[in-house]
Amino acid sequence: MSSAFSLFVIIGTLGSLVVFTLLLLMNRKVSNPGQTTGHEYDGIEEYDNPLPAWWFWGFLLSIVFALGYLIYYPGLGNFKGLSGWTSAGQLAQQQADADERFGPIFAQYRAIPVEELATVPAALRMGQRLFATNCAQCHGSAGTGSYGFPNLTDGEWQWGKSVEQVQATLQNGRVAVMPAWAGVLDAYGIRDVTEYVMQLSGRDAIAEQALAGQTQFNQLCAACHGADGKGQPMLGAPDLTNDRWLYGGSREQISDVLRNGRNGRMPGFSDRLDEDRIHILNAYVRSLSSQ
Ligand code: HEC
Ligand code: HEC
Repeated sequence: MSSAFSLFVIIGTLGSLVVFTLLLLMNRKVSNPGQTTGHEYDGIEEYDNPLPAWWFWGFLLSIVFALGYLIYYPGLGNFKGLSGWTSAGQLAQQQADADERFGPIFAQYRAIPVEELATVPAALRMGQRLFATNCAQCHGSAGTGSYGFPNLTDGEWQWGKSVEQVQATLQNGRVAVMPAWAGVLDAYGIRDVTEYVMQLSGRDAIAEQALAGQTQFNQLCAACHGADGKGQPMLGAPDLTNDRWLYGGSREQISDVLRNGRNGRMPGFSDRLDEDRIHILNAYVRSLSSQ
């Protein structure tokens, strides 16, 4: 903070302590001990008694304590305090302590390939804690996801299931680009393609409409979702031939996705989690879908 503001804080803090002390001393003696002050409210009178001694000394002691505290810890504007304590310093110290404690464990896990680590219970418990802290708010505490947030336990991998692909997902994040088709397809077009997607996923569909939709699909959608609709991990285009949906599988939900497009976004964690932790999370995520 600027030195003027620092001065303001110092004067304000010390000034109020001085005022408290003066107020306390001024009220120590009373003019008519044992008498009433003459004030009366609803028949209740006020005696002109001095402050109780325990209260007086307690208050005084707390002022002395405050002074000591302000000298030892940072509190007076820019004055750093004699102890040199800072919250950032404390955090760094605690992190260093944790690294020292957990470092060898991380090093040990790092040497184990992800596929194998996914079967080591102690590593998975660590992964579960990392998941609860960093991932559960979006993917759910059991990794089962919700609307727009993929279920990580269902064995379907939008962005690929290899160790490298999942590592890339966790480190760099992913941004899905499913274009909006409302400007390209009219209401009938949307209806027909929706019907074809219903058919692809093995549900009852109106054959005539689905057939018309298939032509559109081959032109507009196959580039990303594949001619067979089985998707393409490189683009994050999901497999449309099973009945697992990120945005719901009803006709209304599918046609809404088609009209408006979707841009699901998985944040990258390389700036928050080091490679050792990503490695453990990779194993944990793998274990989720193999149960
Ligand atoms: C540029 C590539 C691309 C094109 C072209 C494309 N899609 Fe997609 N599609 C995606 C991606 C990527 C996603 C995943 C969106 C997300 O995760 O937010 C997706 C998601 C979907 C979904 C939602 C799946 C679910 O699980 O909820 C449906 C349905 C879908 N696309 C159908 C189509 C149809 C039909 C067309 C053609 C009219 C089409 N897509 C064209 C890339 C594409
Ligand atoms: C802010 C919400 C959010 C957080 C936090 C988050 N994710 Fe995601 N994650 C998503 C979304 C949304 C997608 C899907 C992106 C898309 O539509 O393609 C996703 C996709 C994924 C995928 C790809 C799934 C597939 O089918 O290929 C994996 C794996 C994953 N997340 C794991 C994690 C892990 C592990 C963490 C914690 C380190 C995490 N996520 C934290 C939102 C989140």
